[in-house]
Amino acid sequence: MTDSELERLLALSDPAAIAALYDDAYRVKMECIGKCVSIRGLIEISNICRKNCYYCGIRSGNGKVARFRISREEILETALWAHRHRFASLVLQSGEVASEAFTSFIEEIVREICARTGNGMGITLSLGEQTRETYRRWRDAGATRYLLRIEASDPELYRRLHPADHSYEARTECLHMLRELDYQVGSGVMIGLPGQTIRHLVKDLRFFQAYDIDMIGMGPYIPHEDTPLGAGMTLTEEYRKHQLELGLKMIACARLLLRDVNIASTTALQALDPKGRELGLLAGANVIMPNLTDTAYRSGYRLYAGKPGLDESSERSLEAMSRSVESAGETILWGARGDSRHYFRRHEK
Ligand code: 5AD
Ligand code: SF4
Repeated sequence: MTDSELERLLALSDPAAIAALYDDAYRVKMECIGKCVSIRGLIEISNICRKNCYYCGIRSGNGKVARFRISREEILETALWAHRHRFASLVLQSGEVASEAFTSFIEEIVREICARTGNGMGITLSLGEQTRETYRRWRDAGATRYLLRIEASDPELYRRLHPADHSYEARTECLHMLRELDYQVGSGVMIGLPGQTIRHLVKDLRFFQAYDIDMIGMGPYIPHEDTPLGAGMTLTEEYRKHQLELGLKMIACARLLLRDVNIASTTALQALDPKGRELGLLAGANVIMPNLTDTAYRSGYRLYAGKPGLDESSERSLEAMSRSVESAGETILWGARGDSRHYFRRHEK
């Protein structure tokens, strides 16, 4: 597909044409992956973050956030709960912390989850920018996947969204390191950011292609009132609809272009529409990540306005997820790790 073809698809406004785009992407997903959905249990282990991204609700500069950190026992308990409930894949996510204490905390947790589940869990980390040595230690401990969103692949747009000491180059360097350490590498962007054009989104898709990304986690930008970027923005119905649609079109275009990668239908879609997650699956996504974080902590992890499921227990959110996925005509791959096929294909080359 050419850039102008991608631009045309992302700019579609006729509902029938948009529906046809989703259908095409869904067909490619069926061909390359099947009519099935991989699940990962998401554990938000801490909202402490050293970064101050202009769009994010848990940025270090937001003094209104009560900071928390989940204990090792609580993480382990949740991981074992997930294992019992036939999850074979977990994501450990937190704000960015760089310290020896944090590195060894994660290292031990990963080791222990692997040991206690008979290596039955595919572990994904989403813990921001770290040194090569840290990434290596976590890989050696048993983590096999890492998510690090580039957020905006255009260096100039990236600079507008972050304070001066947040470096685009450092972030891409991290993606290279993760690749060299043989992680399945995930990345992604926010969609519908202020100042972002269709051209930027095409560049984002090309970035995933150029970096040969295995897993994509991207979602619509949703303003948060206590951030420089989101202050004073009102979430009208029209704005929600626009953000949701653009997010879905990006999923569809990513599927058409990248074919065999894992693509998540993210929580931000669900925040914009109760049916957002299913819509993501029908537009070509094949992964969902139900939140398993203890509800006592959920409200502390509010990245954007209206984050869903803040008071829903894990049991309840699992049931809701199963129902919604089945209603979309898809089968959940319980007990399967759901590794990225793209990762194995690139190893065959
Ligand atoms: N809207 C949507 N996504 C956001 N993120 C952070 N803030 C927002 C927001 N306001 C996303 C970023 C980050 C991920 C954890 O959450 O892409 O990588
Ligand atoms: Fe921290 Fe990530 Fe939020 Fe940036 S987007 S402030 S790195 S949690």
